[in-house]
Amino acid sequence: MKPPIPVITIDGPSASGKGTIAQLVAAQLGFHYLDSGALYRIVALATQQQNIAWSDAQAVAECAKRLHIIFENEQVLLNNKDITNDIRTEAIGKGASQVAVHAPLRDALTHMQHAFCKAPGLVADGRDMGTIIFPNAPLKVFLTASTEVRASRRYQQLINKKQAANYDDILQDLLERDERDQNRASSPLVMADDAILLETDNLTISQAVAFVLQKYQPFIQFSA
Ligand code: C5P
Repeated sequence: MKPPIPVITIDGPSASGKGTIAQLVAAQLGFHYLDSGALYRIVALATQQQNIAWSDAQAVAECAKRLHIIFENEQVLLNNKDITNDIRTEAIGKGASQVAVHAPLRDALTHMQHAFCKAPGLVADGRDMGTIIFPNAPLKVFLTASTEVRASRRYQQLINKKQAANYDDILQDLLERDERDQNRASSPLVMADDAILLETDNLTISQAVAFVLQKYQPFIQFSA
């Protein structure tokens, strides 16, 4: 019997640094990378383009099933159009957290997320990677940072990308998103019982990456 494909899940709230850390861990290990938040963002963008209300659970889920999505290097293609930057706006992030409350959409995206799990391994980042999508992952990390630190990081990211940014609006938006992500009925943002908590307020990116890699060491030795 083939050994299971190793998965590292990295969950946490918006702007906790999950994406950056997960991508660096994946690169170090030569693993595939799943940015599950991008899927919800793509659905928010596609539904907006098709005039489907983000509140319409069935229509949003049906739309998601028809999408042709390709992740290619750093690019995201939707129906062969490059939407890499279009899905990264604050408005689409907000829309993503609104469509993400719908159970039919979450079901529709489950199979797509499982398809990312290929040899030699996967690092998956999101909100429910360790609890719902990959519950048997050998290593689960839950990343957090204070709301203020997360808002400052998001502010800096937008400024670096030369996008308009207002710290107070960003803070307010993060609080609303946290509230929606943590309190929705379907796959809310919670730490898996067997996850390791990593508080990143006072950590650099390389320290956080080193922490995850160190926690993964025993599994490498185990499978060797
Ligand atoms: O991680 P990111 O900010 O790109 O995610 C956008 C939104 O998608 C989140 O605010 C959350 O509501 C939703 N999401 C989710 N489950 C995931 C990943 C993201 O509900 N696994």
